[in-house]
Amino acid sequence: MSKILVTGGAGYIGSITTAELIAAGHRVVVFDNLYQGHREAVHPDAAFVQGDLARPDDIRALFAQHPDIDGIMHFASYTLVGESMQQPLKYLRDNLVNAANLLEVAIPAGVRRFILSSTANLFDKPERIPIEPDEHIIPGSPYGESKFFIERLLHWHKEIYGLRYVCLRYFNACGDTPTIGEDHSPETHLIPIVLQVALGQRERLTIFGDDYPTPDGTCVRDYIHVVDIAQAHIRAINLLADPLTKIQSHYNLGNGRGFSILEVIDSARRITHHPIPTEIGPRRAGDPALLIASSEAANQDLGWTPHFTDLDAIMRSAWEWHHTHPKGYLQ
Ligand code: UFG
Repeated sequence: MSKILVTGGAGYIGSITTAELIAAGHRVVVFDNLYQGHREAVHPDAAFVQGDLARPDDIRALFAQHPDIDGIMHFASYTLVGESMQQPLKYLRDNLVNAANLLEVAIPAGVRRFILSSTANLFDKPERIPIEPDEHIIPGSPYGESKFFIERLLHWHKEIYGLRYVCLRYFNACGDTPTIGEDHSPETHLIPIVLQVALGQRERLTIFGDDYPTPDGTCVRDYIHVVDIAQAHIRAINLLADPLTKIQSHYNLGNGRGFSILEVIDSARRITHHPIPTEIGPRRAGDPALLIASSEAANQDLGWTPHFTDLDAIMRSAWEWHHTHPKGYLQ
């Protein structure tokens, strides 16, 4: 049975992927510095090592304790587009250096399978919608650029050391499970903020711009459930177990359908029965009008299709977690 290292496995997507990996019969080691992650989010059957990818000694200690790690899912990173526009080197330097530190130890330790949690922020000015995996790359921020740097690191580790890897570029990760959910501080993402309004924790939602060239003037995004994202990772790492598997180095993960901010708010009103007051604010820097993924290649090569295609089903899963965990993990 393989042993998978999940970096950032106490974070939102990493913790849910850890639980799905364990349910699928994998052994998992979570490595997390707990700056953003939550120890409570880590599945009890996963081994947990607290450490920081910025410290090579921590990574060496991790591999000394778990020399049989044979695959990595790399989620740990700084992930905020907006923050990256204010603190570019936190992203361009730290995300890259942390990934390089990990590879520097993992390759000599014999790891040959690697899945990168990448992003749709690589596609700031897509020529075609839905966005195909071969769309030209124009990162929308230092965050997106930092993920592209890591994709290139992986390319050269494949060429030189034979590392088998897949970069999964997700669009708008969202949704929760009944026991593990999204708990960021500060929260910047649309769905949890809308649900904070429904919980009475915020008075209203500010819609960042209603004059975009979209049907209702608000930004359109491709909302993809985090359990579907987790399942794509598991399919990809399983396929990489066979050195002869022919799969691409990168895939887009989305529902293939876009929803505007107003549609998200309407869904939240249906599910929570709260009026969700809103106001229109200025545009947020760096927001593209429309991002919708083509997941056809992931469908064909990974045999992956998203299970949560309906916005209300996604919203219901998020509401179930948020209203039972109104303070997140701080219950
Ligand atoms: N929005 C609001 N009000 C808010 C919060 C968000 O109007 O209070 C809007 C944003 O302006 C955007 C949409 O809701 O138009 C979605 O915003 P999110 O912050 O939830 O998500 P983003 O689309 O900005 O970012 C997501 C991921 C990033 C990833 C990016 C890829 O969170 O990590 O998609 O484009 F890089």
